[in-house]
Amino acid sequence: MMSNLTETMRNILERRRERSGLRRLTTASDNSTDFSSNDFLSLRTSAQLRAAYMQHLTGEFDLGSGGSRLLDGNSKFAEQLETDIAAFHGAPAGLLFNSGFDANSGVYACVPQAGDVIIYDEYIHASVHEGMRLSRARTRVSFSHNSVASLRETLVSIKRVNSSITSGNANVFIGVESVYSMDGDVAPLADIVCCMDELLPMNNGYIIVDEAHATGVVGLRGAGLVCDLGLQDRVFVRVHTFGKALSCNGAIVLCSDITRQYLINYARPLIYSTFMSYPALAAIRASYELLWSGKAETQRSRLWKLIQHFDRRLTELDVKTDAHGAKLVQVSPTPAKSPIFSILTSYPRELARFCQDAGFVVRPIVPPTVPRGAERVRVCLHTCNSTSEIDSLVQCIGRWMNGSSGGQGSAWKLSRL
Ligand SMILES: Cc1ncc(COP(=O)(O)O)c(C=O)c1O
Repeated sequence: MMSNLTETMRNILERRRERSGLRRLTTASDNSTDFSSNDFLSLRTSAQLRAAYMQHLTGEFDLGSGGSRLLDGNSKFAEQLETDIAAFHGAPAGLLFNSGFDANSGVYACVPQAGDVIIYDEYIHASVHEGMRLSRARTRVSFSHNSVASLRETLVSIKRVNSSITSGNANVFIGVESVYSMDGDVAPLADIVCCMDELLPMNNGYIIVDEAHATGVVGLRGAGLVCDLGLQDRVFVRVHTFGKALSCNGAIVLCSDITRQYLINYARPLIYSTFMSYPALAAIRASYELLWSGKAETQRSRLWKLIQHFDRRLTELDVKTDAHGAKLVQVSPTPAKSPIFSILTSYPRELARFCQDAGFVVRPIVPPTVPRGAERVRVCLHTCNSTSEIDSLVQCIGRWMNGSSGGQGSAWKLSRL
């Protein structure tokens, strides 16, 4: 007999399927070309990284960590790792978390106090929303994506109704990502800092930057956007995750010593979860060794050459019209700032399927991951992609646009951010 709950879940899933929003686990076929994963530096298949990792696995070590970091899970190796990573990023201290999701949700849930305000970019990652849901700060307002004007307006209007902010008795947290995961565009961080300085002169503004997609890719030796702009002292917290370009798992929160101590006491994902095992920490150390020794510079510079190449090829594409005569719109004329590109179309599934059938792994991104109207196919470049693979992908997109597959969407935009 089927339980009520099973029936309820089945119905919910069915409704999601009808809205074409059903999520599924898939695996890529071995001979497809990866234009989807976040393995930007292609480290997951790197012999160099494997060798660096194996060096750490030669001696005796425990397999499991044994518990939460606060009980039996801590080690000198973990403490040295976070000290070294913090130094690499020019931060006073660092605290490792099991994932970027844990780091963001932990920070946002416990650092803002009752009466404080969180203002966040509308495209901020789900893990930040998770933290905000648990936060004591009741006022949580989004500003338009990457718009300093919108941040300014939001701050001004919140100050108008909340005198504690003007008097410096309440804090304002500003949450942004350095490179946005779906558009690949970069936050105007220097302008955000200026805006904070101007509108929060009581020093009660705190910027939190999620560097997930910038780690290993942006800035000197991949240290991230904050370092690239020299804003280490102006940003309150940085979150670097290891699951993308570094090809590991986990994350570090870069912060002051006192913030670190506070997180050790109040960040629940850290306190109530078994800490990473030695092999996981060793993998993070091995990846960072490639960054701080400069050994990953070859991969990084090749990646940036490919980014420029793809950017140029997309420019050639966007002078064309699609099968319905709709002109392609170039959203941003600036050169690409990251390996993440998005091709906006009302028919993301059809375009993605067309490319997948041609042997390219790309994914359609649909609501709720992106807002309605911002559906897209996300393309990520990797050090191991060849220029001819990139050219073939662009040709494939061009064929679909020109209707050789039977004629698809008219609503076309190429987002080259
Ligand atoms: C911007 C951003 N922040 C945080 C996370 C979470 O990181 P992790 O995968 O380590 O949990 C992700 C991953 O999807 C992300 O894209």
